[in-house]
Amino acid sequence: MALLLTSVTLALVAGSHAQADFPDCVNGPLASNAVCDTSLGHVERARALVDELTVAEMINNTVNAAAGVARLGLPPYEWWSEALHGVADSPGVFFADPGEEFSSATSFPMPINMGAAFDDELMRAVGNITSTEARAFNNGGRSGLDYWTPVINPFKDPRWGRGAETPGEDPLHTARYVRPLVEGLQGGNDPAALKVAADCKHWAAYDLEDWGGVERYAFDAVVTSQDMAEYYSPPFRSCVRDARAASVMCSYNAVNGVPACASPFLLQTVLRDAWGLAEDRWVTADCDAVGNVYDPHAYTEDFVNGSAVSLKAGADLDCGTTYAEYLPEAFDRGLIVEEDLKGALTRLYASLVWLGYFDPAENQPYRQISWADVNSPEAQALAYQAAVEGMVLLKNDGTLPLTNATASLALIGPMANATATQMQGNYNGVAPFIISPMQGFQDAGYNVTYVLGTNVTGHDADDLDAALAAAEAADMVIYVGGIDATVEKEALDRLNITWPENQLALISALEEVGKPLIVVQMGGGQLDDTDLKESSSVNAILWAGYPGQSGGTAIADTVIGTVAPAGRLPITQYPASYVDEVDMTDMTLRPDESTGSPGRTYKWYTGTPVYPYGYGLHYTNFSVAWSGTPDDACYDIQDVVGAASGYLDLAPLDTFTVTVTNEGAVASDYVVLLFVSTQAGPAPAPIKELVGYARVANVQPGASVDVDLEVTLGAISRADENGDASLYPGEYELTLDYDGALSLTFELCGDSELVAEWPRES
Ligand SMILES: *[C@@H]1O[C@H](CO)[C@@H](O)[C@H](O)[C@H]1NC(C)=O
Ligand SMILES: *[C@@H]1O[C@H](CO)[C@@H](O)[C@H](O)[C@H]1NC(C)=O
Ligand SMILES: *[C@@H]1O[C@H](CO)[C@@H](O)[C@H](O)[C@H]1NC(C)=O
Ligand SMILES: *[C@@H]1O[C@H](CO)[C@@H](O)[C@H](O)[C@H]1NC(C)=O
Ligand SMILES: *[C@@H]1O[C@H](CO)[C@@H](O)[C@H](O)[C@H]1NC(C)=O
Ligand SMILES: *[C@@H]1O[C@H](CO)[C@@H](O)[C@H](O)[C@H]1NC(C)=O
Ligand SMILES: *[C@@H]1O[C@H](CO)[C@@H](O)[C@H](O)[C@H]1NC(C)=O
Ligand SMILES: *[C@@H]1O[C@H](CO)[C@@H](O)[C@H](O)[C@H]1NC(C)=O
Ligand SMILES: *[C@@H]1O[C@H](CO)[C@@H](O)[C@H](O)[C@H]1NC(C)=O
Repeated sequence: MALLLTSVTLALVAGSHAQADFPDCVNGPLASNAVCDTSLGHVERARALVDELTVAEMINNTVNAAAGVARLGLPPYEWWSEALHGVADSPGVFFADPGEEFSSATSFPMPINMGAAFDDELMRAVGNITSTEARAFNNGGRSGLDYWTPVINPFKDPRWGRGAETPGEDPLHTARYVRPLVEGLQGGNDPAALKVAADCKHWAAYDLEDWGGVERYAFDAVVTSQDMAEYYSPPFRSCVRDARAASVMCSYNAVNGVPACASPFLLQTVLRDAWGLAEDRWVTADCDAVGNVYDPHAYTEDFVNGSAVSLKAGADLDCGTTYAEYLPEAFDRGLIVEEDLKGALTRLYASLVWLGYFDPAENQPYRQISWADVNSPEAQALAYQAAVEGMVLLKNDGTLPLTNATASLALIGPMANATATQMQGNYNGVAPFIISPMQGFQDAGYNVTYVLGTNVTGHDADDLDAALAAAEAADMVIYVGGIDATVEKEALDRLNITWPENQLALISALEEVGKPLIVVQMGGGQLDDTDLKESSSVNAILWAGYPGQSGGTAIADTVIGTVAPAGRLPITQYPASYVDEVDMTDMTLRPDESTGSPGRTYKWYTGTPVYPYGYGLHYTNFSVAWSGTPDDACYDIQDVVGAASGYLDLAPLDTFTVTVTNEGAVASDYVVLLFVSTQAGPAPAPIKELVGYARVANVQPGASVDVDLEVTLGAISRADENGDASLYPGEYELTLDYDGALSLTFELCGDSELVAEWPRES
C-alpha cells in the first residue's frame, strides 16, 4: 500500500463510521431487485444489481472508497481493510478511543514469527480468530468485510523491507501456510457464507520496495517462466486455487515489461483460466498501481489508457482514484465498453453477496458476532502460543534456560522496553495490551534493572556507564535489540544486513563485564550474527522477531524455561557480504557466474550461511529415525500419476514416517523438516528443497512420537524452462532437518510425466 495515501485517507474519514450501513433488502428501494433474491446464485444476484446501474454509477464504484448508489439504497463501501496479524488500522477499520468498545483487537505476532512456528493448524486458528474479530468490528459499524491479507510473496532477499510480512523464503512452506490461514479467515469453503474475504497479495514477483533508486512503482521484474513456476507463484496457486481466496491483489511492479495490474496474462490467463478464480471473486490493484501503469511505468500514453488497459486486463478494483477520474474519458474514447465495467462490478458485488451483505442479519452465521467476542481468553492464549511457537534459539552454551528464580537481571538495549510498534511490526491494530520483554520478566517475578543503553541506530550509547553498572550489579545480562520498523519498512529496502554499529559496540562492552549474556534479537529480517555467534562471552542468542502483544511474556517464559523454544529460521541468515554479491533487482534464483550471484535462498545459495534455513535449537535432545522404509524402492511414474485424482501436484507420492524421541529431560515441541535433493530433471539442480514439515507438540522426556510427512508429486517435481513441472526418472535423496540428521534414497522409474503446466502467454 502507499503509506501516504493511507494517512491521507484516514485523515479524511477519521471519526466517521463509514461501514455502518448494509443495504436494506426488505424495505429499501433494492427490495424489488433480484440482488435480494436469496434463491439465486452469487453472480446472478450481483448481475441483477449491476444491470440497474448507469455507466457513471458503475465507474463511481470501481475504487476502494466506493460511492454506492444512493438512489438504489446502495450505501458507500470501503473495500480496503487490513488484518495482517489481527484486525489492523486501515481506511476501512476504525478503532474506538481507549476504554470504549472496539478500542482494541487481538494482535498476533508478525507473519515471519508465525512462519518460524511451521504449524499449519496454528494458522487456521489465527485466521479464525482474526475473522471473528473482523466480523465483530463490521457488525459494530467499524470495519469492512474485505481484508487485504495475507502477504505471500516468498521472502527472497534479506534486504526486502516487507519480508517480515511474509512467513519466509520457501514457496512450499508459504503455499502450505496460506491455505489454512485463508480457510480460517474465510470460514472454510462454504459457498453459502463467506466469513470475511481474504486477499492473496501481491501478484506477482513483488519483493522490492526501493533499492538503489529503483522503486517498486517503476520496477520491471525480469522473471523466467521457470522461476515463476517454481518460486514466485506456488503460494498464489495455493491461495487462489486451493484455499479459494475471494480476491487477489496485483502488484506495483511490472513483470517482463507489463505492469502486473495491466497484464492479461497474470490476471486472466493465470488467475482465472489456469487457477479457476471464479466470477464471484475479484482482483484489486495495489494502492495507486493503476495510476502507476502510466506514471511511472509509462506502459501507456496517459492515465486514461492506463485505466482502460488495467480494467480490461482484469483489475476489477482500483485502490486509489485513477479509475474514478479517468474511466469516464476511457469510456468516451471507446477504450472500454459497458460490459467491461459490468464484468468488474459483477465480480465485486458477487463477493459481497457471498458475504451476506445483501441479506438480513437474522439467519446469517456471522452477523451476531459482537464486541463481546473480541479479545476472548482463547484469542489471548492463541496470541501467546503463536509468540512462543515462533521463538528460535540460535545459540546456547547451556546458560538457558535460566533456572535460578532469584537471579537479578539487567535488561539492556533498545527493545528491552520495546514500544508497541517494536512488538507488533507493521500493519497492526491496537492491541488490548502490549507486554514488553522487561514487563515479561517482571511479571515472572524477576528483579529487573532496565537501561536503554543505546537507540536502534545512531550514535554510540549515551547510557553506556549506566548499562555497564547495571550489568556489573546483576547476575545475568539480557540484551534486547536488533532492528525495528524504522530500519525495515514498507517503501524502503535495507542496504546492509549488519547489526547497527552502535548496538554491536554496546554488546561488546557488555561482553567485557563477564556476566552471563543473552542476546534477544528482534526484527523480522535477519542480521549477520557472526560476531555474537563466535564470541564465547555471548552465551545465547534467541531470535524473537516481532512477537506481538504477548511477546514479552513469551520471551521471558522461553528464557526461564517455562516453555521450550522449538521454532526454526524460515529464512537464511546470510553473512553481511551477501548484499555486495547480488543486486536486489536481479530476480534470478540460480547462482550465476556472469553476474557473480551466489544464488538465492537455501535452495541455491552456494556460500556458507551464518545460520541456515531451518535452524533452531532446543532445551532437550531429540533423536530421529525412519519408521519403516518406503514400500517401493522405485516408484513407477506412470503408476503414481495414473493412481492420482484431483490436482496432480497435490496428489501424494508417499507418506514417510519419522519417529521422534525426546532423549533429554525437558518437554518440548519439535519441528520436523523434510528436504529432497536430486539431479533428475533440468540442470542445474537446487542444493535441496523443502518437501514436507510438521510441528509435533509437547513431546515429553523419554517419549517417542511417529510423525507422518506426506510428500506430494508437486513437491518433488521440477520445472523446465517453460515452467512446466514434471516428475523425472532418477534418484532422489530425502534428508531430515537442516543438518541432514537422517537420509533415505528412492528412485522414480519410467518416463517423465507432466504434473503442472505453466500457462502460456498468448
Ligand atoms: C459519484 O459519487 C459522488 C460521491 O462520492 C456523488 O456526488 C456523485 O453524484 C456520484 N455520481 C453518480 C453518477 O452516482
Ligand atoms: C473459531 O473460533 C470460534 C470462537 O473461538 C470457535 O468457536 C470455533 O470452533 C472456531 N472454528 C474453527 C474452525 O476453529
Ligand atoms: C493504449 O495503450 C496500449 C499500450 O501502450 C496500446 O497498445 C494501445 O494502442 C493504446 N490504445 C489506445 C486506444 O490509445
Ligand atoms: C540464584 O541467584 C541468587 C542471586 O544471585 C544467588 O544468591 C543464589 O545462590 C542462586 N541460586 C542458585 C541455586 O544458583
Ligand atoms: C517503558 O516504555 C513505556 C512506553 O512504551 C514508558 O511508559 C515506560 O516509562 C518505560 N519504562 C521505563 C522503565 O523506562
Ligand atoms: C536516543 O535517541 C534520543 C533522540 O535522538 C536521544 O535523545 C537519546 O539520548 C538517545 N539515547 C541513547 C541511550 O542513545
Ligand atoms: C535487584 O538486583 C539489584 C542488582 O541488579 C540489587 O542491587 C538489588 O538489591 C536487587 N533487589 C532486590 C529486591 O533483590
Ligand atoms: C546499514 O544501513 C542502515 C540503514 O538501513 C544505516 O543506518 C547504517 O549506517 C548502515 N550501516 C553500514 C555499516 O553501512
Ligand atoms: C544433548 O546430548 C549431548 C550429548 O549427549 C549432551 O552433551 C547435551 O548436554 C545434551 N543437551 C541437552 C540440551 O540435553
